[in-house]
Amino acid sequence: MTEFSQVDVNDFLETSVQKLNIYLATVFAQNSEPQKLFDAMRYSLLAPGKRLRPALCLAVAQTLGVAEDDVISVAAALELVHAYSLIHDDLPAMDNDDLRRGQPTNHNVFGEATALLAGDGLLTHAFTLLSQPRSFLHPEQQLELVLCLAVAAGPYGMVGGQQADLAAETQRPDISMLRFIHTHKTAALIEAAVVMGAIVGGATSEQRTLLASYGRHLGLAFQIVDDLLDVTATTQELGKSAGADERQHKMTYPAAVGVAETRKMADDELAQALTSLTGVGLHTSLLVGLAKMSVRRIH
Ligand code: IPE
Ligand code: IPE
Ligand code: MG
Ligand code: MG
Ligand code: MG
Repeated sequence: MTEFSQVDVNDFLETSVQKLNIYLATVFAQNSEPQKLFDAMRYSLLAPGKRLRPALCLAVAQTLGVAEDDVISVAAALELVHAYSLIHDDLPAMDNDDLRRGQPTNHNVFGEATALLAGDGLLTHAFTLLSQPRSFLHPEQQLELVLCLAVAAGPYGMVGGQQADLAAETQRPDISMLRFIHTHKTAALIEAAVVMGAIVGGATSEQRTLLASYGRHLGLAFQIVDDLLDVTATTQELGKSAGADERQHKMTYPAAVGVAETRKMADDELAQALTSLTGVGLHTSLLVGLAKMSVRRIH
């Protein structure tokens, strides 16, 4: 298998994001009714996101020798769950944000009730994608994929993290609480993206454990950088409102330990992600490149 340079990693991302976008555009049949619901789901799903979670899933599967067409529906399911989480995260009752992916938030365009339903629709349809019969996946593999995504997205994962994130708005900064929030609200789904690629690719249980650790640390680094960029980047760069965390009294690493220490913590998680890849017995340069890119990103 080929070794990837950082340039190849950029190429991989560009090509896979393009393919994902084409696939995502076909997930919901045209002219489905009620039109407003489908318009609202497509509005958020097809907006220009980084597609990190599906890209990681594709990258792990590719590293294990799986053809892209055999994993793209699984990768897409991850993006549906992510898009749902963003719609609900932005609601007035949660982070109350007006801008997402460079456009007005879903509830600002379609209203709160439809935004809630669009989120519900994306979440449940992700499991339709995962459980539909696929000639290239064993039913047992599909069951494992469903379980993995359900645990990561649900109350023991992302939803639990979102609840803790809300509760923390009125609490003093606390590093162990921050770690709980980040592990659940963000790292759980990113870890699942990696593990789902490993399931499709038939990784051994030892490889899966190491890859899960890579995904978890990458996910933690990713959320630390998200907190950092909220302080250091502009609304224009982010496509979402900069400074929103401070306005919402969010418990974040920059608020708890300052910008410089936060950078170090992101680098430390990156180092741990990369260490997890040693011993996995695969050509990991693509995964190394994606992890570095997730931490050194500017939006
Ligand atoms: C934003 O995720 C929410 C977090 C978990 C930090 P992304 O930064 O991946 O958002 P998009 O998908 O690129 O819009
Ligand atoms: C969001 O975390 C995590 C999920 C959507 C699950 P944030 O609230 O920090 O994400 P942004 O900054 O709004 O994208
Ligand atoms: Mg939030
Ligand atoms: Mg938010
Ligand atoms: Mg944020």
